[in-house]
Amino acid sequence: EQPQLLAGKTITITSGPTREPLDPVRFISNHSSGKMGYALAQAALELGAKVNLISGPVTIKAPAGANLINIESAEQLLNESLAYAVHSDAFIGCAAVADYRAANVATQKMKKQGDELTLTLVKNPDVIAAVASLEQGRPYTVGFAAETQNVESYAKGKLKNKNLDMICANDVSKSGLGFNSDHNALTLYWHNQSVELPATSKTEIAHQVIEQLAKHL
Ligand code: PMT
Repeated sequence: EQPQLLAGKTITITSGPTREPLDPVRFISNHSSGKMGYALAQAALELGAKVNLISGPVTIKAPAGANLINIESAEQLLNESLAYAVHSDAFIGCAAVADYRAANVATQKMKKQGDELTLTLVKNPDVIAAVASLEQGRPYTVGFAAETQNVESYAKGKLKNKNLDMICANDVSKSGLGFNSDHNALTLYWHNQSVELPATSKTEIAHQVIEQLAKHL
């Protein structure tokens, strides 16, 4: 039995990929498996938190006791995130949100045409930036930054530009870590401090992230 550091707290966590439809049978997505976000949910539950887990389509099972909310697109993620964030003490954006979606979603299956096909994409809303800019009921807001280069500067840039309280920098260029693996390594940044979490299982690193978060709630 672990000390119930988060008793009485509500944490909302986003996890997994979004799917942005192109037509009734196709979509744009990414390799997020949901493992990191689900491990964070499990860790928060074990410390006594009430957990809302807003999840894109994944094949893993949600931890027992989490309130699972299924979404597909970034727009659905935005709506659910704002609805739950205002009733939460902390919000963790671990979902790999598609930055763009198709400008027009075809109502019928697109037919094969010439040798090239050009898709027009439009920007999706930034979910975590919207949560962090809530004027009422803003939760302590934690982002992730999945980067393949300049990890520290890009992560610090997102911390500042999205007005977050904390960001978990995730170097996803290292094989065996990050997307769709069982292991991860993170550097946590606040505006005036940082903590290095060396490579370990997602289960273990999730506990370390949640313990760090608990100190700030
Ligand atoms: O799911 P797994 O297979 O376990 O992999 C875990 C992970 C690598 C997906 C995870 O650890 C991770 O890094 N998640 C963030 C992925 C991401 O989309 O990062 P980003 O740097 O593009 O986005 C920065 C932050 O803004 C993130 O908190 C993201 O959720 C958020 N965002 C991004 C775009 C957008 N339109 N809205 C957002 O809220």
